[in-house]
Amino acid sequence: MRIAQILFSQGFGNRRVCVGLLQLGLVRVGGRVVGDPHEDFEPEGLAFEVDGQPWLYQARALLMLHKPAGCECSQKPRHHPSVLSLLPPPLRTRGVQPVGRLDEDTTGLLLLTDDGALIHRLTSPKHHVPKVYEVGCKHPVDDAQLARLLAGVVLDDDPAPVRAAAAERTGENSLALTLTEGKYHQVKRMLAAVGNRVETLHRSRFGGLSLGDLAPGRWRWVELNDHRLKPVGWCDTD
Ligand code: URA
Repeated sequence: MRIAQILFSQGFGNRRVCVGLLQLGLVRVGGRVVGDPHEDFEPEGLAFEVDGQPWLYQARALLMLHKPAGCECSQKPRHHPSVLSLLPPPLRTRGVQPVGRLDEDTTGLLLLTDDGALIHRLTSPKHHVPKVYEVGCKHPVDDAQLARLLAGVVLDDDPAPVRAAAAERTGENSLALTLTEGKYHQVKRMLAAVGNRVETLHRSRFGGLSLGDLAPGRWRWVELNDHRLKPVGWCDTD
């Protein structure tokens, strides 16, 4: 694929901007400045730099972000900055969107992609992708609450009960809750339904993925092979 087309596909701007980046000597492959927009490269696995920023070619953008508190998952945020403001411009140009939403005060693992079909697949309750939430509660968590969360509670917008796939106490006032669907404010409403109240909420796992050492506000590429999500061993720069 021509290098100008590679830059364009990765979100570095329209074709004229990408040709300009090359002509200005701002693009390097393997440390060598590439100035000819027509030079061909095998895109799969290609690592390159644009104005000093390392980049890895990805046919589809799929990444995880350690969402900090105080940002909204909406593209048109109302009260706080969007999570998209934490990503470099090429990802925003590619139109990545959160896979489901976390509340403004929820922290943790947020997946984002530019693949609409994948968003549908990962958020559909039919596919039962487990998500683990670490929940801090106002009141002590007791066995009766755990049993009710596992048996199913009825929320105000649907008569069908929603069940946790797993619910384990992790401290006097805390639990780890595994859900396979993603209804609006689901954890908060489920805890309210059993007479408790969520004070802190952190998503620690999404499918087989966990945050590892990814710091709040940072992101990392993710790959999907045979329905398994796996971080790519390459991290963003400052
Ligand atoms: N459930 C909630 O209540 N809030 C979140 O952010 C995620 C799940």
